[in-house]
Amino acid sequence: MLYSDKVMDHFTNPRNVGELADANGIGEVGNAKCGDIMKMYIKVDKGVITDVKFKTFGCGAAIATSSMATEMIKGKTIEDALKLTNKAVVEALEGLPPVKIHCSVLAEQAVRAAVADYYKRLGIDPGPIVGEIGDCHACSHDE
Ligand code: FES
Repeated sequence: MLYSDKVMDHFTNPRNVGELADANGIGEVGNAKCGDIMKMYIKVDKGVITDVKFKTFGCGAAIATSSMATEMIKGKTIEDALKLTNKAVVEALEGLPPVKIHCSVLAEQAVRAAVADYYKRLGIDPGPIVGEIGDCHACSHDE
């Protein structure tokens, strides 16, 4: 079977889909490889991500990884959320086919973009904290 049960579960029943009306950080990123886009909304309270939602035009693997990623960062500090890698999300999903690894990067980058937006709104330069966004390691190495 190509996809694990976990991937199928998150694809058919994705968690945290939609928009957050009271988000204080919104990130939108595109996938350089397939052109799909993802929007991530976060609500931060005292340094903790108390709520998160996402919307994507990505494929099934993008939906599953975003769903898993939102579950993994909800209730975490910004610091911990920034440590979330697409690799950790793929592991939590018990793997993805190699051609779909680039899809998982969308979730990781969207989290970073949302955090960057959160800092920008506070007048803080997100660069040193969040780092480069859109630097898709998987995309440039998996071909
Ligand atoms: Fe674009 Fe999966 S093919 S996100």
